[in-house]
Amino acid sequence: MPRVTILPQNLSADVKPGELLLAAGEQAGVEMEAGCFNCECGTCAAEIVRGMENLNPPTPEELDVLDQWNRDSEKYRLTCCVRILQGEVVLRQAH
Ligand code: FES
Repeated sequence: MPRVTILPQNLSADVKPGELLLAAGEQAGVEMEAGCFNCECGTCAAEIVRGMENLNPPTPEELDVLDQWNRDSEKYRLTCCVRILQGEVVLRQAH
């Protein structure tokens, strides 16, 4: 079962494969930053501290939004449009 840990709270949850990172964070008990819930506003940007390889690859839309916020897509993802596929992911909310 995939596992998500949110920093700095250091709260974790086991989640089902394919769960949105945003929903996974809420399951860990963290109030996740979000605005549009639609991969458009960038509010939900989070630093992926570990486990980028366990997430689905970014879409062109996500890459555009990350670019607008000057966030390196190799380190940051938008939690409202990224799914955890397997393994462990550790993230830190960027705002
Ligand atoms: S909440 Fe707007 S991009 Fe994720």
